[in-house]
Amino acid sequence: MNLKLLFIFGTRPEAIKMAPVIKEFHNNSPFDVKVCVTAQHRQMLDQVLNFFNIKPDYDLNLMRPNQSLFDITANSLIALERVLELEKPDFIFVQGDTTTAFVGALAGFYKKIKVAHIEAGLRSGNKYSPFPEEINRVLLGHIADYHFAPTEKAKENLLNENIKNNVYVVGNTVIDALHLGLKFIEENEQLKSKIEKYFTSELKIENSKLILVTGHRRENFGRYFENICFALREIAKNNKDLEIIYPVHLNPNVRDPVDRILRGTNNIHLVEPLEYPYLLWLMNKSYLVLTDSGGIQEEAPSLGKPVLVLREVTERMEGIEAGTAKLIGTDKNKIVNEVEDLLKDIYKYEKMSKAVNPYGDGNASSRIVDIIKNLTTV
Ligand code: UD1
Ligand code: UDP
Repeated sequence: MNLKLLFIFGTRPEAIKMAPVIKEFHNNSPFDVKVCVTAQHRQMLDQVLNFFNIKPDYDLNLMRPNQSLFDITANSLIALERVLELEKPDFIFVQGDTTTAFVGALAGFYKKIKVAHIEAGLRSGNKYSPFPEEINRVLLGHIADYHFAPTEKAKENLLNENIKNNVYVVGNTVIDALHLGLKFIEENEQLKSKIEKYFTSELKIENSKLILVTGHRRENFGRYFENICFALREIAKNNKDLEIIYPVHLNPNVRDPVDRILRGTNNIHLVEPLEYPYLLWLMNKSYLVLTDSGGIQEEAPSLGKPVLVLREVTERMEGIEAGTAKLIGTDKNKIVNEVEDLLKDIYKYEKMSKAVNPYGDGNASSRIVDIIKNLTTV
């Protein structure tokens, strides 16, 4: 009988990073592949499911407006019990550090099902940053039976916590997704011209110098987010030739300060979350990226885009060490100065804009499939 694999995820980044793995397992039956989404995110998850054409077997539809960590933790744990009882999978796959990922693993443990963790081993060393993701990931590391680390550094982090068995360095599946996404745009003329039309006709940013901004981390809520917005407003005012494109996360804690402080500034475009291929197109056209996002810190180096990371610490040091990303925090003047520096100092800019791949080569998914196949044929 085929081995049954159950993929559990709930948010946009998990969906993006799981999609290539699910596709690879689909192309390599003898596996029975099932997908359960908690829908911790709704619209932002659906955008990705549509693009990658993934149809979940279970949709727990849990997202509530402005949900708390308690809501999503408790509701997904309860709902997953029934799914596991119905499906009785041999393996559960979870990805990253979200609450869905942690709870998916915990549910698997309660049912004594083997848990495989994709993107294992990232650590910032600060339990409150990223919050609650650092602790989600630590707990997940101790629950999981198979650990797919994206880099050697991630593997070392696991070894330092005495997690030694079944640790594999495979690269980050986000690079597989990036390759899939870029290939799809390249091969699909209709999509390509739709994307170009959106940016050129609707946003009218054809020949401008672009800065892509995203932000959503819980530890930045409140005055740190306000600082970021005040900095963006000053940068936009000082540099009229710049266009800042900011796809705003749907979390109300993000949207409120962004709307209040930035709405109405001429060269700042506040747009809805972009579908993945639109985001990739935009990143590719951008001069630089300002973000607190994990996934974007990983994608941008591959495209040779400098990233200024709007956080005090990061669990993704590889980009910083490669010199394509810089940790700049959330102080308003610091953000303004760092951006102005990269706009004026071409030497500094060019040093940061070299394409490097510290997070993978685009083959992480096939490595994961091979490892699981080998495990199950011995
Ligand atoms: C979650 C993850 C975070 C991940 C991020 C990716 C946790 C605790 N947080 O944070 O690790 O980096 O997703 O974006 O797991 N909302 C919508 N529609 C959507 C998505 C969100 O309206 O499609 C709004 C809702 O009001 C929701 C709120 O955003 O309650 C917060 O969503 P939630 O998943 O709890 O937190 P994120 O900040 O998105
Ligand atoms: N992304 C997207 N549309 C957007 C913003 C981001 O498709 O408007 C993609 C981005 O390319 C990356 C992922 O979403 O692959 C990152 O998600 P997010 O920043 O929400 O979460 P994190 O990576 O910080 O957990």
